[in-house]
Amino acid sequence: MANPRLLPAAFLWLKKSAKKHWAIPTVGFTILIVFALTFFSDQSSDNPSTFRPNFDSTADDDFVDLTLVHRAKDKGAFCLDGSLPAYHFQKGFGSGSSNWLLHIEGGGWCNTLESCTRRQVTPLGSSKYMEPQVRFSGILSRYPTQNPEFFNWNKVKIRYCDGASLAGHPESEFKNGTKLYFRGQRIWEVLMEELLSLGMSNAKQALLSGCSAGGLATLIHCDNFRDLLPKDATVKCLADAGKMLVEIIP
Ligand SMILES: *[C@@H]1O[C@H](CO)[C@@H](O)[C@H](O)[C@H]1NC(C)=O
Repeated sequence: MANPRLLPAAFLWLKKSAKKHWAIPTVGFTILIVFALTFFSDQSSDNPSTFRPNFDSTADDDFVDLTLVHRAKDKGAFCLDGSLPAYHFQKGFGSGSSNWLLHIEGGGWCNTLESCTRRQVTPLGSSKYMEPQVRFSGILSRYPTQNPEFFNWNKVKIRYCDGASLAGHPESEFKNGTKLYFRGQRIWEVLMEELLSLGMSNAKQALLSGCSAGGLATLIHCDNFRDLLPKDATVKCLADAGKMLVEIIP
């Protein structure tokens, strides 16, 4: 299932169909963008000054720093604008210290030169615009009352900045001086290298998850994720609302 060529093909299909039947992708993407905006505005209001859960979270200590993937430079694994990809990592503890939960951020796709160019100056296209810290809540929370299954696992929020569900390939880039990088597949590869080096190579249990465009990325990379981890590890994938499949399969 992990066919890295599927996505660029779909990208081209969307580009072509955008000319002929512009209405379908336009309506589809408008719905997605509205969905994404709702999702993000929900998240941004989710900070300690406006949101105080009435259980054991009392301080700002559930904010987790952004880490740039420096090794990505040598591998040519870049966000849409050519900046380094990034993630947030919180180390596991106690009985969770050999378990890994990865969550791939969502945010739709860009499907035209214009929409991908616009993304280059947003957190979904450039690590230069990403918040230096994000709050880990829900499945990423480190509080057992909020997150009884995974609170003490190693937890990673993977930032999404390639515009194509971590599956873009440089062959799809314009060869005429247009500065747009489609390097999602390489971002996936260097991220896995980095996390394996941080201890994921000894994982006993691992869950790859993602929402929306991140849900689709989860589907695309699930088999590879399984192959990278120890044979005796329990590995699962959770694709939450990776519903963009409906749009890309004609
Ligand atoms: C490069 O090619 C794309 C797609 O054909 C076109 O839209 C764009 O304007 C071109 N850029 C330059 C700098 O010529």
